[in-house]
Amino acid sequence: MTDKTFRAVYETVGTYDELLLRHYYGGTEDVDLVADWLTEHYAAPAATLHVAEFGCGTGRITDAFAPYAARMVLADYSEIMVSAVTQKFPAAETICADTSDAVARLLAAGQAGAFDLVSAFWSLSYPIGEFFEELSSVGVRLRDDQAGAADQAGEFVHDLVQLVAPGGHLLVMLFDAESPEQQLVTRAWEKVAPFPRGGRAYTRHVLIDALRAAESRGEGTLSHLRLGGVAWAPDREAAREWFFGVHFKHHPQLLEDREVAREVEDFLDRYEMASGGVAIPSGVHFIDFHAVAHPYASLPIGIDS
Ligand SMILES: C[S@@+](CC[C@H](N)C(=O)[O-])C[C@H]1O[C@@H](n2cnc3c(N)ncnc32)[C@H](O)[C@@H]1O
Repeated sequence: MTDKTFRAVYETVGTYDELLLRHYYGGTEDVDLVADWLTEHYAAPAATLHVAEFGCGTGRITDAFAPYAARMVLADYSEIMVSAVTQKFPAAETICADTSDAVARLLAAGQAGAFDLVSAFWSLSYPIGEFFEELSSVGVRLRDDQAGAADQAGEFVHDLVQLVAPGGHLLVMLFDAESPEQQLVTRAWEKVAPFPRGGRAYTRHVLIDALRAAESRGEGTLSHLRLGGVAWAPDREAAREWFFGVHFKHHPQLLEDREVAREVEDFLDRYEMASGGVAIPSGVHFIDFHAVAHPYASLPIGIDS
């Protein structure tokens, strides 16, 4: 029986694994997108990389880069998640803190430039969003100083980049706020409170703008790919809980809203397949910031000799 308390998805044992749907992009599961990226960039695993992952959850994607890592720092705000990764990767260093605090803590401990790979999969919109708004079971409250929030969020991205070693990468996967699934989610959350800056894509814009600024300062190159795909629910109930448990985090107002319930059922009607499974259209933004001396390091070797 699924725990229906607010935020149970990240804060009670087993709920995330129970509710998570598998996501495929061009037939490749999200974990394998990362595995393929690792093969492309590092060839065979050699256990040499120093890696930091923020919002690591139960270590689902950590599995892909663990064989490449000599050192892993795994961070998540949820004690349940940190305890899951501690069991799975006993040699990893763990931090139980909000991502912005974890990043600040690492920098204060002299870890600037310490990581070949800094990563966050499906988790960076939370700490970015928290600069602008506060989410609790009673609602979402926009912070008073939105301009100040934008500055702080930009600083936070800058700090993330500071953790990357010369030649290393910041690798991020973010949800696509413009997909039909996420538009439904946005309409529902808008009933609780409006989103800052005209919609839920703003966290991605904050990230991309800050990384473009870093590129303009010569700190690296930004590559950004949007992939279309599907979240696969084996049955209608799994798809329903994907909305209510994961997207709406069992927020009491959204659990009780009949209009939201109707909209979710209509959505499921539209994407249900003959087998009873539901193929939810999904999109992911795959973002890679490569910390090289831009533009000098972007030339093919030998071109200026
Ligand atoms: C969608 S899950 C992704 C987990 C994992 N990266 C994966 O792909 O399976 C989001 C994760 O971010 C964590 N999280 C949410 N808000 C956070 C914050 N502000 N700081 C740190 N972690 C946060 C949650 O506890 C959860 O583990």
